Amino acid sequence: MKVFIDDGSTNIKLIWLENDEKKVAIVPTSFKRGWVADIGNDDIVNFLIEGEKYSFDKLDIRNITTNNSEWQYSLINTVAIHHALLQTSIIPQEVDITVTLPLAEYYDEDNQINFDNIERKKKNLRKIVSNNKNFPMFSFKEISVKPESIPAGFDKLIDIPETQSMLIVDIGGTTLDIAQISGNMSGVVNLAGDSDIGVSIITREIKRILETANTCASNYIADQFIINRHNKEWLKKNTNDPSKINTVVSAINQNIKRLSDRVIESVSLFSGYSYVLVIGGGAPIISDALKDHTKIIPERFYMSETPQLDLVNGLYLMGRN
Ligand SMILES: Nc1ncnc2c1ncn2[C@@H]1O[C@H](COP(=O)(O)OP(=O)(O)OP(=O)(O)O)[C@@H](O)[C@H]1O
Ligand SMILES: [Mg+2]
Repeated sequence: MKVFIDDGSTNIKLIWLENDEKKVAIVPTSFKRGWVADIGNDDIVNFLIEGEKYSFDKLDIRNITTNNSEWQYSLINTVAIHHALLQTSIIPQEVDITVTLPLAEYYDEDNQINFDNIERKKKNLRKIVSNNKNFPMFSFKEISVKPESIPAGFDKLIDIPETQSMLIVDIGGTTLDIAQISGNMSGVVNLAGDSDIGVSIITREIKRILETANTCASNYIADQFIINRHNKEWLKKNTNDPSKINTVVSAINQNIKRLSDRVIESVSLFSGYSYVLVIGGGAPIISDALKDHTKIIPERFYMSETPQLDLVNGLYLMGRN
């Protein structure tokens, strides 16, 4: 059995087939050191890897935060992938997995595949993970590693002539990845990755402001504020000091502008493309700014209904046979 996994630094996205039906899951990567008290349900939240204890807790504000490059080879990455698999309906067993590395890790400075990093990631995933309830865990037979962003353009690139190229902009929780790929997937024209530009630019600031509204927020909760920023009822219900809601919303908007400006700055280094695809959880918040900047005609500017799942969907389309 094959499971396609986009193991982002803030959310793990998974696709697998169950009775020929495509299934999808998004599982946050909120872990902290140490184990938590067992409240008697069936959830597996306490894990052990190489003598280190970690627990899953999406609401705790003391969660370990990692940027994308440290995250890739960390013990928590391996734990998070096992934890995410346990959230699917698949019975724990040996599976083949496809996982991802950011462009800056997958390719070296000369845009050649960095086999050392690929091996490092595979080796990290082979570490044994157990849990406090002795519940059966998954194991991995074949592990394949693919670059981030590029597979998301697979179904579009096959229809684009080789003389033209597409810019794929992936704005995730902690990283911006940009790839310019020529039609028919015939080559990589240019790449750029910045592990300081992600939606976390906004979440960090929201957490700080929520504290002034007497509301302690984890990354997960701060994310929910961004997603629900237009939903007045939701904001009222989730802020302990409602008089601060306007401050929170205007901070979100200011930081969306800040994030968009940084994305545009990076995109400005690219030229000559005639298609744009924007993916990743942050796509809906920066797509207007990107559209204005690139001036690509609407028919050639793509953003799907579920941009956060575009990469894992691409992995699935490329590898399902
Ligand atoms: N509808 C939405 N509107 C705004 N932001 C969203 C939306 N959906 C998800 N996000 C944000 O997207 C981020 C997660 O995106 P994604 O899953 O692509 O990141 P990731 O792959 O974990 O990160 P990275 O690629 O940087 O390692 C979260 O910070 C979340 O707040
Ligand atoms: Mg990602």
